[in-house]
Amino acid sequence: MKVADFVEKYAVERKHTDSVKWDGMKAGFGSNDLLPMWVADTEFKAPEAVMYALKKRIEHGAYGYSLTPDSYYEAYFKWQQERYGTELHKEWIRFGAGVVQSISALVNVLTLQDDAIMVLQPVYHPFMHVIEDNERKLIVSNLKDNNGHYEMDFEDIRNKIQTEHVKLLINCSPHNPVGRVWTAAELEKLFEICREEKVLVISDEIHHDLIVGDNKFVSAIAIKDGFYRDNIVMLDAASKTFNLAALQNSHVVIANPQIRERYDEYVKKLCLPSGNLIGKVAAEAAYRDGADWLDGMLGLIKYNFNYLKSQFAENVPEVKVTELEGTYLAWVDMRKMVSADKLHHLIQHEARLAVDYGEIFGTAGEGFIRLNLATTPENVEKAVNAIVKALKN
Ligand SMILES: Cc1ncc(COP(=O)(O)O)c(C=O)c1O
Repeated sequence: MKVADFVEKYAVERKHTDSVKWDGMKAGFGSNDLLPMWVADTEFKAPEAVMYALKKRIEHGAYGYSLTPDSYYEAYFKWQQERYGTELHKEWIRFGAGVVQSISALVNVLTLQDDAIMVLQPVYHPFMHVIEDNERKLIVSNLKDNNGHYEMDFEDIRNKIQTEHVKLLINCSPHNPVGRVWTAAELEKLFEICREEKVLVISDEIHHDLIVGDNKFVSAIAIKDGFYRDNIVMLDAASKTFNLAALQNSHVVIANPQIRERYDEYVKKLCLPSGNLIGKVAAEAAYRDGADWLDGMLGLIKYNFNYLKSQFAENVPEVKVTELEGTYLAWVDMRKMVSADKLHHLIQHEARLAVDYGEIFGTAGEGFIRLNLATTPENVEKAVNAIVKALKN
């Protein structure tokens, strides 16, 4: 589907619809009168098949306690198998009301108070909050920024695991915000270190459908034919891909039966939610019939990214745009153009944008901004032009 056709068919006004991105800016930015390029959701309607399935289910009228039908597992497993070669089994699957909620539960299941947990920064900020809010010790290994290409620092990872007695690693794959789609070789190296050092892994794969570069996505539980999967809990959802975040349905994939048992006990003790009827109806329909829509979405992300990259290169080449392999989040290095103390003023008060500032992802993110490209080309054009103009002034 052409980009213009996708936009025409699916773009939708979200302002004044109680959206966090548009109507919730005031809380974080002091004004709702900015162009929002923050929050990782999109300005697009879900696939028609999702809306149709939801309508049908809503019209039934009764929304009592519900099971997860076999058809759900079939659609989800087929999607994973055919697109990524990931093999799943029903007994491995648990449902959550969101990936972050499940990370928090798993931190409690897999570690004790004061245990050390590692993240690779800059990284999605709730990883750090969950670790610290649960009174665990945050251990950071910074990714190496190799001229805009981020790589894991395996030596640093192993050293810190040993010296800090790390028990758990939370990995983001594909990586928000640096946009890497880790190769199988990189992941294998990481998981081998974790296996040797007896470190468990949570693999947050919520962005796994949003692949826009050449690297193929490989799930942590499929690396080396599943060799590491007993050491790993994988988390994913249809929510990021298909813009379903508020329907609160996500997967916790636990191949290791002992970990599963401990997880189930914890969920029982806290009476944690196990997904949502409406969220499951939407996700099943998306997995079954959402592939063409997703192709349209990926085309749009590539288009928006190429525009952003070429405009900065042409007008302010000192602004460095990190190559986008996956996610719809552009990671933009402003350090050569603006000092850290002036960046917020420039973006918010001169360019009039709401963005995610790099430092929320860790100190390695200082001087960067993260821009959400899952919006119309018109909004990307406005945002980029506003930044270029503010910089030139
Ligand atoms: C890496 C990552 N994990 C989790 C989430 C949020 O997932 P949920 O809304 O299911 O908690 C996001 C949202 O941006 C994300 O980028």
